[in-house]
Amino acid sequence: MKIAILPGDGIGPEIVAQAVNVLNVLGESFEMETAPVGGAGYAAHGHPLPEATLTLAKQADAILLGAVGDWKYDTLERALRPEQAILGLRKHLNLFANLRPAILYPELAGASTLKPEIVSGLDILIIRELTGDVYFGQPRGVRIATDGAFIGEREGFDTMRYAETEIRRIAHVAFQAAQKRDKRLTSVDKANVLETFQFWKDIVTEVHQEYPDVALDHMYIDNASMQLIRAPKKFDVIVTGNMFGDILSDAAAMLTGSIGMLPSASLDANNKGLYEPSHGSAPDIAGKGIANPLATILSAAMMLRFTLAKPEQADRIETAVKKVLAQGLRTPDIYEPGTTKVGTEEMGNAVVRALT
Ligand code: IPM
Ligand code: MG
Repeated sequence: MKIAILPGDGIGPEIVAQAVNVLNVLGESFEMETAPVGGAGYAAHGHPLPEATLTLAKQADAILLGAVGDWKYDTLERALRPEQAILGLRKHLNLFANLRPAILYPELAGASTLKPEIVSGLDILIIRELTGDVYFGQPRGVRIATDGAFIGEREGFDTMRYAETEIRRIAHVAFQAAQKRDKRLTSVDKANVLETFQFWKDIVTEVHQEYPDVALDHMYIDNASMQLIRAPKKFDVIVTGNMFGDILSDAAAMLTGSIGMLPSASLDANNKGLYEPSHGSAPDIAGKGIANPLATILSAAMMLRFTLAKPEQADRIETAVKKVLAQGLRTPDIYEPGTTKVGTEEMGNAVVRALT
């Protein structure tokens, strides 16, 4: 089985190196090949998603990505910015289903900005549609308004849209995920205002007929944001569109205290996937050896579970991560007095030790 390793920018290379070490001690024979992506892709080949990187990603069975983005590249035209690599990979590989679990490890309950009783034991799954919506809708751009109160003026515009097939397939993923959990699904929309999301709601309701064992409810995005902060444990699985999911998943991540702990998977219809930490490239701490590698290591575990069909290896990694947390090891982002502050490499090595 071949894994494409795309370290990317900022802390990406440091945290990916630790996940690769973990994969290497599992006793499996994975073939791994590394390629530049994001700012690193631009620096090496003049494009954030170089042709060779895309080809490797297509050939591989699974992709492990660090993070992309660096202030250095912020002044480039949009098509050349690091973020385009990730959007391009999602689109070219049809990775429409984004799974973002938000789990609070009991050891880290004090790291949340919310009261421990609100968040302790939190275990929710956000499923974000990843290749449609206003992110990819055409047309988009800046034009001269031809009607309305601001006629003749320049206006920026994007297109929000969802095809029926796109809604159906993500709804199936969500209902099936809920079936494996607590059998409760919340579909988040803005059906009270947007045509796109009234349609979304109607289709999700239709698909529900095939999953009578799952309890479905619908919530508007504004209310869902509020409920997520007020009583997050009331949720089990949340399914929503690309843009709402982007926002909601960052909020959910913060409930757990550190975005440095959360993995993610982006899957196509055959469970081929791209795995990456939910956090970004953190250029401010790049090269300092203090980034938390656990989200990337847990992303490798998700990869073993969903794409490589090695659930027992995924369990092993997750158990090892719990073990190092129980040992009191903490990178600075999750440090609390009374625990032991360690760097990226020390944390990675501790997980490796806990595995063997
Ligand atoms: C994410 C990120 C991306 C997104 C950016 C980097 C394009 O915020 O994966 O959540 O908006 O999808
Ligand atoms: Mg985001």
